[in-house]
Amino acid sequence: MAAVDFEALRDDFPNLADGQPPLHYLDSAASTQKPACVIESIRHCYAHEYGPVHRGLYPLAENASENYEAARRTLARFINAGTTDQVVFTRSATEAINLVASGWAATHLQSGDEIWVSQMEHHSNFLPWQRVCNQRDARLRIIPVDDRGRLDLENAPELFGPRSRLIAISQMSNVLGTINPVREVVEHARRHDIPVLVDAAQSVGHMPVDVQELDCDFLVASAHKMCGPTGIGFLYGTSARLRETEPLLLGGGMVDEVGIDHSSWAEIPARFEAGSPNLAGAVGLATAVDYLSTIGLKAIEQRVRDLTDYAYQTLEAFDEVLLYGPETGNERGGILSFNIEGIHPHDVAQVAGEQGVAIRAGHHCCQPLMQRLGVSSTARASLNFYNNEQDISALADVINETVKLFGKR
Ligand SMILES: Cc1ncc(COP(=O)(O)O)c(C=O)c1O
Repeated sequence: MAAVDFEALRDDFPNLADGQPPLHYLDSAASTQKPACVIESIRHCYAHEYGPVHRGLYPLAENASENYEAARRTLARFINAGTTDQVVFTRSATEAINLVASGWAATHLQSGDEIWVSQMEHHSNFLPWQRVCNQRDARLRIIPVDDRGRLDLENAPELFGPRSRLIAISQMSNVLGTINPVREVVEHARRHDIPVLVDAAQSVGHMPVDVQELDCDFLVASAHKMCGPTGIGFLYGTSARLRETEPLLLGGGMVDEVGIDHSSWAEIPARFEAGSPNLAGAVGLATAVDYLSTIGLKAIEQRVRDLTDYAYQTLEAFDEVLLYGPETGNERGGILSFNIEGIHPHDVAQVAGEQGVAIRAGHHCCQPLMQRLGVSSTARASLNFYNNEQDISALADVINETVKLFGKR
């Protein structure tokens, strides 16, 4: 593997390269910065190749349809889907999860059944399951999180049983950075033939993700967290599971025939993509995937791991800082949640913002996890391959400054 010059890659990102004063962007778990090639591909699409998708017979429209389907092929290759039609474009990871909750779970759950999620799930991978369980008189069950912020699978063989209908689990926690052993969860699930949905919003784009190796039934993610545009995400599903799934949205483009009393759906994946497709979004997503693939997902993973080790050690050196989640290494991606004793995380984020350091503070759409941690909120720094050690030093300066400002030292 040829060494990648990650420092030089910063120049690919106008927001990082142009910034005066410099921007220390440590909020990639919320949304990543966009490289110029992605921005340009979207501009080019609108300027020169824009036309309606799957709706016109003239060359511009046919070319638009081809570009849209080419983006699907690129994405399918990226996650190693068995066939291209296993990839469904959605608005986001959130929409993809809602699609499975409404289209699959709602039609498969019966009174007394159960759906399992973990205590570290994002609200997007929690609320749709909570609602469908309430609607079907089923139980939402929780895989616990241990004191080091890892899934507690010790009792997994006894947890899942014949009433378990689905397990929905994140591959990487957006608060703790924990990389969950999805393969192990799938192996437990297979003993009872339980489908597994993987929320890969934080992992795709940061590490190699292979849906066939994971052997999952569904996987979801959002383009904007993988250097692509907002407004587009995707659902992967095995052909068998997608055939069992009802569409979430009904409307143009997803039908075979419409009658007054009855209608029939188009083939998969068109069946799940009602309405005019987001062509520029798909093109931008495919460009992002090509960009990430050219750098190499293994190289990206290693880069972020090195930065995470450095950031962990830097933050750990402060007596006032309490870090959450696993120690560094294979168990953690580039997400570090922390609190400073006696100082509200919003104050930390405010001071950081004034110094050009972008971090997030709050419950990070993970209130069940906050309850487990015994806090209402944390500060969070999240890394991507375009960060460097100066960004982390800038965060250390923020912590020093905040501690002094609030008279804690
Ligand atoms: C783990 C996880 N799942 C799901 C989501 C939802 O992603 P989106 O808001 O792009 O739909 C997020 C967003 O932060 C996330 O971190």
